[in-house]
Amino acid sequence: MTRLDLLRREFLEKCIVRGGLVAGASMSSNSLLAYWQHAEAAARKPTAPEVLGPFFKKGAPNSKDMRIAGEPGMTLRVSGKIIDVRGNAVPGARVDMWHADHKGIYDVHGYRYRTKLAIDSGTAYETLTIMPGHYPDRPAQHIHYLITAPGCKPLVTQLYFATDPFFEGDPDKNFGRRGVVSNRECVRPVTLLDESAKPHAAVTFDLILERA
Ligand SMILES: [Fe+2]
Repeated sequence: MTRLDLLRREFLEKCIVRGGLVAGASMSSNSLLAYWQHAEAAARKPTAPEVLGPFFKKGAPNSKDMRIAGEPGMTLRVSGKIIDVRGNAVPGARVDMWHADHKGIYDVHGYRYRTKLAIDSGTAYETLTIMPGHYPDRPAQHIHYLITAPGCKPLVTQLYFATDPFFEGDPDKNFGRRGVVSNRECVRPVTLLDESAKPHAAVTFDLILERA
Protein backbone atom coordinates (compact mmCIF):
# COMPACT_ATOMS: atom_id res chain seq x y z
CA MET A 1 0.00 0.00 0.00
CA THR A 2 1.40 3.37 -0.99
CA ARG A 3 1.68 6.44 1.20
CA LEU A 4 -1.08 8.02 -0.88
CA ASP A 5 -3.35 5.04 -0.15
CA LEU A 6 -2.61 5.37 3.57
CA LEU A 7 -3.46 9.06 3.46
CA ARG A 8 -6.70 8.25 1.65
CA ARG A 9 -7.57 5.57 4.22
CA GLU A 10 -6.93 8.02 7.09
CA PHE A 11 -9.06 10.60 5.31
CA LEU A 12 -11.89 8.13 4.78
CA GLU A 13 -11.76 6.93 8.37
CA LYS A 14 -11.91 10.50 9.65
CA CYS A 15 -14.86 11.15 7.37
CA ILE A 16 -16.69 8.14 8.78
CA VAL A 17 -15.90 9.07 12.38
CA ARG A 18 -17.11 12.62 11.86
CA GLY A 19 -20.23 11.55 10.03
CA GLY A 20 -19.08 13.09 6.77
CA LEU A 21 -19.39 9.79 4.97
CA VAL A 22 -22.22 7.35 5.58
CA ALA A 23 -21.41 3.79 4.66
CA GLY A 24 -23.42 0.60 4.93
CA ALA A 25 -22.86 -1.35 8.16
CA SER A 26 -20.93 -4.04 6.30
CA MET A 27 -18.72 -1.63 4.40
CA SER A 28 -15.20 -1.63 5.82
CA SER A 29 -12.65 1.11 5.25
CA ASN A 30 -10.93 -1.36 2.89
CA SER A 31 -14.10 -1.55 0.79
CA LEU A 32 -14.46 2.20 0.87
CA LEU A 33 -10.87 2.64 -0.23
CA ALA A 34 -11.40 0.22 -3.14
CA TYR A 35 -14.60 2.07 -4.09
CA TRP A 36 -12.77 5.40 -3.92
CA GLN A 37 -9.94 4.12 -6.09
CA HIS A 38 -12.40 2.71 -8.63
CA ALA A 39 -14.20 6.05 -8.84
CA GLU A 40 -10.93 7.90 -9.34
CA ALA A 41 -9.81 5.46 -12.04
CA ALA A 42 -13.09 6.00 -13.87
CA ALA A 43 -12.54 9.75 -13.99
CA ARG A 44 -11.71 11.02 -17.44
CA LYS A 45 -9.04 13.46 -18.43
CA PRO A 46 -10.44 16.81 -19.49
CA THR A 47 -10.17 17.56 -23.19
CA ALA A 48 -6.81 19.14 -23.88
CA PRO A 49 -6.80 22.91 -24.40
CA GLU A 50 -5.47 24.61 -27.51
CA VAL A 51 -5.16 28.24 -28.53
CA LEU A 52 -8.20 30.36 -29.47
CA GLY A 53 -6.59 31.78 -32.61
CA PRO A 54 -7.38 35.12 -34.23
CA PHE A 55 -10.55 34.18 -36.15
CA PHE A 56 -13.11 33.65 -33.39
CA LYS A 57 -16.26 35.68 -33.92
CA LYS A 58 -19.17 36.00 -31.51
CA GLY A 59 -22.77 35.61 -32.57
CA ALA A 60 -22.66 32.52 -34.79
CA PRO A 61 -26.05 30.92 -35.53
CA ASN A 62 -27.08 27.65 -33.87
CA SER A 63 -26.66 25.48 -36.97
CA LYS A 64 -26.34 21.72 -37.06
CA ASP A 65 -25.43 21.88 -40.74
CA MET A 66 -22.70 24.32 -41.71
CA ARG A 67 -22.44 23.08 -45.27
CA ILE A 68 -23.06 25.63 -48.01
CA ALA A 69 -24.90 24.57 -51.15
CA GLY A 70 -22.62 24.53 -54.16
CA GLU A 71 -19.38 24.79 -52.21
CA PRO A 72 -16.83 22.02 -52.75
CA GLY A 73 -15.37 19.99 -49.93
CA MET A 74 -15.66 16.57 -48.34
CA THR A 75 -18.74 16.41 -46.12
CA LEU A 76 -17.68 15.86 -42.53
CA ARG A 77 -19.83 14.77 -39.62
CA VAL A 78 -18.36 15.83 -36.28
CA SER A 79 -19.84 14.50 -33.09
CA GLY A 80 -18.95 13.62 -29.55
CA LYS A 81 -19.91 13.62 -25.94
CA ILE A 82 -20.21 16.71 -23.76
CA ILE A 83 -19.63 15.59 -20.21
CA ASP A 84 -17.62 16.44 -17.14
CA VAL A 85 -14.62 14.46 -15.94
CA ARG A 86 -16.92 12.19 -13.90
CA GLY A 87 -19.03 11.38 -16.94
CA ASN A 88 -21.95 13.53 -15.83
CA ALA A 89 -24.02 15.50 -18.31
CA VAL A 90 -23.40 19.25 -18.44
CA PRO A 91 -26.77 20.69 -19.51
CA GLY A 92 -26.81 24.13 -21.03
CA ALA A 93 -23.54 23.81 -22.94
CA ARG A 94 -22.82 26.20 -25.78
CA VAL A 95 -20.37 24.96 -28.39
CA ASP A 96 -18.83 27.46 -30.76
CA MET A 97 -17.14 25.78 -33.73
CA TRP A 98 -15.41 27.60 -36.57
CA HIS A 99 -13.02 26.67 -39.33
CA ALA A 100 -11.60 27.69 -42.69
CA ASP A 101 -13.26 26.79 -45.99
CA HIS A 102 -11.78 24.23 -48.40
CA LYS A 103 -9.24 26.84 -49.57
CA GLY A 104 -8.10 27.61 -46.03
CA ILE A 105 -9.89 30.96 -45.82
CA TYR A 106 -11.95 32.10 -42.81
CA ASP A 107 -15.09 34.14 -43.24
CA VAL A 108 -14.38 37.21 -41.12
CA HIS A 109 -17.36 39.20 -42.45
CA GLY A 110 -20.15 36.65 -42.03
CA TYR A 111 -20.73 33.25 -40.45
CA ARG A 112 -19.77 30.72 -43.09
CA TYR A 113 -18.47 27.60 -41.39
CA ARG A 114 -19.33 28.92 -37.98
CA THR A 115 -21.88 27.63 -35.51
CA LYS A 116 -22.79 28.01 -31.88
CA LEU A 117 -24.60 24.83 -30.89
CA ALA A 118 -27.00 25.04 -27.98
CA ILE A 119 -27.01 21.74 -26.11
CA ASP A 120 -29.75 22.23 -23.57
CA SER A 121 -30.06 18.58 -22.62
CA GLY A 122 -28.32 15.31 -23.35
CA THR A 123 -24.65 14.49 -23.40
CA ALA A 124 -23.73 14.78 -27.06
CA TYR A 125 -23.34 17.15 -29.97
CA GLU A 126 -23.29 16.61 -33.71
CA THR A 127 -22.90 18.84 -36.73
CA LEU A 128 -22.27 18.54 -40.45
CA THR A 129 -19.70 20.64 -42.25
CA ILE A 130 -16.84 20.13 -44.72
CA MET A 131 -13.25 19.13 -44.18
CA PRO A 132 -11.36 22.41 -43.59
CA GLY A 133 -8.57 23.47 -45.93
CA HIS A 134 -4.97 24.22 -45.05
CA TYR A 135 -3.63 27.72 -44.60
CA PRO A 136 0.01 28.75 -44.41
CA ASP A 137 0.19 29.99 -40.83
CA ARG A 138 -1.23 26.78 -39.34
CA PRO A 139 -0.71 24.10 -41.95
CA ALA A 140 -2.74 21.33 -40.29
CA GLN A 141 -6.46 21.10 -40.98
CA HIS A 142 -8.41 21.97 -37.84
CA ILE A 143 -11.69 23.05 -36.32
CA HIS A 144 -11.69 25.52 -33.45
CA TYR A 145 -13.91 25.07 -30.40
CA LEU A 146 -15.03 27.26 -27.52
CA ILE A 147 -17.27 25.46 -25.04
CA THR A 148 -19.05 27.04 -22.10
CA ALA A 149 -21.48 25.43 -19.69
CA PRO A 150 -22.95 26.45 -16.33
CA GLY A 151 -20.78 25.22 -13.47
CA CYS A 152 -17.84 24.31 -15.72
CA LYS A 153 -14.61 25.99 -16.72
CA PRO A 154 -14.68 27.29 -20.32
CA LEU A 155 -12.72 25.13 -22.72
CA VAL A 156 -10.89 26.36 -25.82
CA THR A 157 -9.58 23.57 -27.97
CA GLN A 158 -9.08 22.39 -31.54
CA LEU A 159 -9.81 19.22 -33.47
CA TYR A 160 -7.24 17.89 -35.95
CA PHE A 161 -7.45 14.98 -38.37
CA ALA A 162 -5.16 11.95 -38.37
CA THR A 163 -5.61 11.67 -42.16
CA ASP A 164 -4.07 15.11 -42.71
CA PRO A 165 -0.98 14.87 -44.96
CA PHE A 166 0.66 17.23 -42.48
CA PHE A 167 1.14 14.25 -40.14
CA GLU A 168 2.77 12.16 -42.89
CA GLY A 169 0.77 9.09 -41.93
CA ASP A 170 2.07 8.99 -38.37
CA PRO A 171 0.37 11.46 -36.01
CA ASP A 172 1.95 9.77 -32.97
CA LYS A 173 5.36 10.76 -34.25
CA ASN A 174 4.55 13.93 -36.14
CA PHE A 175 1.80 15.70 -34.23
CA GLY A 176 4.31 18.21 -32.84
CA ARG A 177 5.81 19.21 -36.18
CA ARG A 178 6.47 22.95 -36.38
CA GLY A 179 4.72 23.45 -33.06
CA VAL A 180 1.30 23.51 -34.72
CA VAL A 181 -0.44 20.93 -32.52
CA SER A 182 0.10 20.91 -28.77
CA ASN A 183 -1.76 17.74 -27.81
CA ARG A 184 -1.75 14.37 -29.52
CA GLU A 185 -5.24 13.56 -28.22
CA CYS A 186 -6.69 16.40 -30.29
CA VAL A 187 -5.69 14.55 -33.48
CA ARG A 188 -8.62 12.24 -34.15
CA PRO A 189 -9.05 9.31 -36.53
CA VAL A 190 -11.28 9.86 -39.54
CA THR A 191 -13.77 7.27 -40.71
CA LEU A 192 -14.83 7.30 -44.34
CA LEU A 193 -18.50 6.37 -44.68
CA ASP A 194 -20.66 5.56 -47.66
CA GLU A 195 -24.08 5.66 -46.08
CA SER A 196 -25.59 7.79 -48.81
CA ALA A 197 -25.06 8.57 -52.45
CA LYS A 198 -22.25 10.89 -51.44
CA PRO A 199 -19.39 9.51 -49.33
CA HIS A 200 -18.51 11.50 -46.30
CA ALA A 201 -16.12 11.42 -43.40
CA ALA A 202 -16.92 11.18 -39.70
CA VAL A 203 -14.92 12.16 -36.67
CA THR A 204 -15.71 11.89 -32.99
CA PHE A 205 -14.23 14.41 -30.60
CA ASP A 206 -15.42 14.30 -27.01
CA LEU A 207 -15.60 17.52 -25.03
CA ILE A 208 -14.81 16.71 -21.41
CA LEU A 209 -15.09 19.70 -19.11
CA GLU A 210 -13.69 20.46 -15.68
CA ARG A 211 -16.09 21.68 -13.05
CA ALA A 212 -15.50 25.28 -12.00
FE1 LIG B 1 -7.44 28.28 -37.32
